[in-house]
Amino acid sequence: MSRIRYGGDYNPEQWPEEVWAEDRVLMRRAGVNLVTVGVFSWAELEPREGEYEFAWLDRVLDGLHEAGVRVDLATATASPPPWLSARHPEMLPVTAEGVRLHPGSRQQYCPSSPVYREHAARLVRAIAERYGSHPALELWHVNNEYGCHVSHCYCDVSAEAFRRWLVRGYGTVEELNRAWGTAFWSQRYGGFEEVWPPRAAPTFRNPTQLIDFDRFSSDELLDLHRAEVAILREATPDVPITTNFMGFFKPTDYWRWAEHVDLVSNDSYPDPADPRSPALSAMSQDLMRSLAGGRPWLLMEQASSAVNWRAVNAPKRPGQMRAWSLQAVARGADGILFFQWRQSVAGAEKFHSGLVPHAGTDTRVWREVEALGAELAGLSDVVGEAPRARVAIVLDWDSWWALEQEATPASLLYPNLLFAWYRPFFDRSLLVDFARAGADLSAYDLVVVPAMHVASPAAIAALDAYVRQGGRLLVTFQTAILDPDLHVQPGGYLGALRETLGVRVEEFAPLAAPELPGAEPPVVALAGSGLDGSTATQWTEYVHVADAEAVAMFAEGDVAGWPALTRRTLGEGKAWYVATLPDEAGRDALVATLLAEAGIEVARGARPGREVLERAGRRFAIDHAACTVEVEPASRR
Ligand code: GAL
Ligand code: ZN
Repeated sequence: MSRIRYGGDYNPEQWPEEVWAEDRVLMRRAGVNLVTVGVFSWAELEPREGEYEFAWLDRVLDGLHEAGVRVDLATATASPPPWLSARHPEMLPVTAEGVRLHPGSRQQYCPSSPVYREHAARLVRAIAERYGSHPALELWHVNNEYGCHVSHCYCDVSAEAFRRWLVRGYGTVEELNRAWGTAFWSQRYGGFEEVWPPRAAPTFRNPTQLIDFDRFSSDELLDLHRAEVAILREATPDVPITTNFMGFFKPTDYWRWAEHVDLVSNDSYPDPADPRSPALSAMSQDLMRSLAGGRPWLLMEQASSAVNWRAVNAPKRPGQMRAWSLQAVARGADGILFFQWRQSVAGAEKFHSGLVPHAGTDTRVWREVEALGAELAGLSDVVGEAPRARVAIVLDWDSWWALEQEATPASLLYPNLLFAWYRPFFDRSLLVDFARAGADLSAYDLVVVPAMHVASPAAIAALDAYVRQGGRLLVTFQTAILDPDLHVQPGGYLGALRETLGVRVEEFAPLAAPELPGAEPPVVALAGSGLDGSTATQWTEYVHVADAEAVAMFAEGDVAGWPALTRRTLGEGKAWYVATLPDEAGRDALVATLLAEAGIEVARGARPGREVLERAGRRFAIDHAACTVEVEPASRR
């Protein structure tokens, strides 16, 4: 029978064995059926090079099996033991400023280090051999949160790996010189051996060198993951594999990663004190379902209450853990897991909540943990089926990396722009898929493309084809400004999208905030259909309309009278362009228009603050202010 997975990271090595027996009793009480074991156990499993101590882990896994708890077994490579870097200090990572990062916390390895790779591979093989046929094993958990602390390493070993990556990609140094535009500032290279990672430099670094290093760094981490996967596949071809993603995490291009896991899983720690949290976590959940190709995914980590890594760590409000967990279920999660089972008494995370709090089981948190376990057990019938979205937002890591570089027209934050356009759909309880640039979009009734700064010919062709097949497309400012080499195509911005949208952009005019204390960020009034009374924020620009209607205009300042919103009709299809970020009311009005045109209706009973979602015939009505959820039909148990 498939059940909703319920449990969390279980770190029994932090506790004397007497506690393990109590853990199993409490796990049964809470309805825990899956725990992640061994994430940070390398130093306990291999205390001296090549000498493994598996007996304790045998007892843990046997005990869990007897208690009916399945195991998501980690490969334990996330935090190398001190002996490894003591012997091989060259495996420690180095920052752009040349600072070597030392042991004493975690993740202190250079992703390109052959020493790390060799020792990690040996450990994974040993674990796979020992536990590959253990009856408790359900899932492999490769490493942990790749890149969380060390995503880019600038050491000499990484420099060599970067050069090899560049040789593979460019072939010749002439081609690299062309792509990187090294005629600028006397950067021309005579050979690959002259190239370095973009270490700290006197001023702005070469943009293409920067993005290539971002691409390389994501690939290099993925390479680590794939090396572990290869070992696990060989040892246990039938055991599924995951590694925990971190939502909208800039350093790793999850589109490239998703095909290398059997099950997508996510770690999510929204701030209980931030009113945007329900929308932000919904966005991250929608991304996971999208990465999983529309299939269910696992919430691998969340907190039962407070975390310990913000300046001030608010606990979850009574009911909030349930509300946020059921939100994940409604958006396609087949598992609700936590970091961590028992709150630590020592170490850097002792003030991070656990399922079993410091104060024990006569606590609010524990009662909520038990109640949620019981409720999830009665919702098993949703397992395996994920809800479908009719709206998509295009998400592109190259664009993220390029848009947030130094020396740009304005410092824009890509996830904020994505969120700005996600929000009006969230407020209507409409699911949104994220789509990879270049993907076929024909399954969607409406597609939004916020600031897809870097556009390949394939990405543009996909948007064009979508509109010509009758789709409704909204493209925002700062889309298709650069090609994948980060070069500008002269002749007016938007590249080949000029054809699709029927407009061209002559000049940018971002709204600069005066650097004065207390100064309000400037805005510009908008006028025209649907946008009267709203304002333009962050950005304006000079747009020429060639073959489209100007639907709304900028109404103030130097751009007064220039188009802010345009629409081109192509048969059944419509291609909209918005030359600014309208304020919240403006975005809301525009999305309302687009939804009406696309024939998409808001779920019954949904309103801002009250999500109403359906999954597999079940309706979840979540009131985020009250932290209550009505489930219909209710959990049957
Ligand atoms: C995650 C990590 C866990 C734990 C948790 C605390 O980033 O995977 O090991 O540190 O954060 O919130
Ligand atoms: Zn390195």
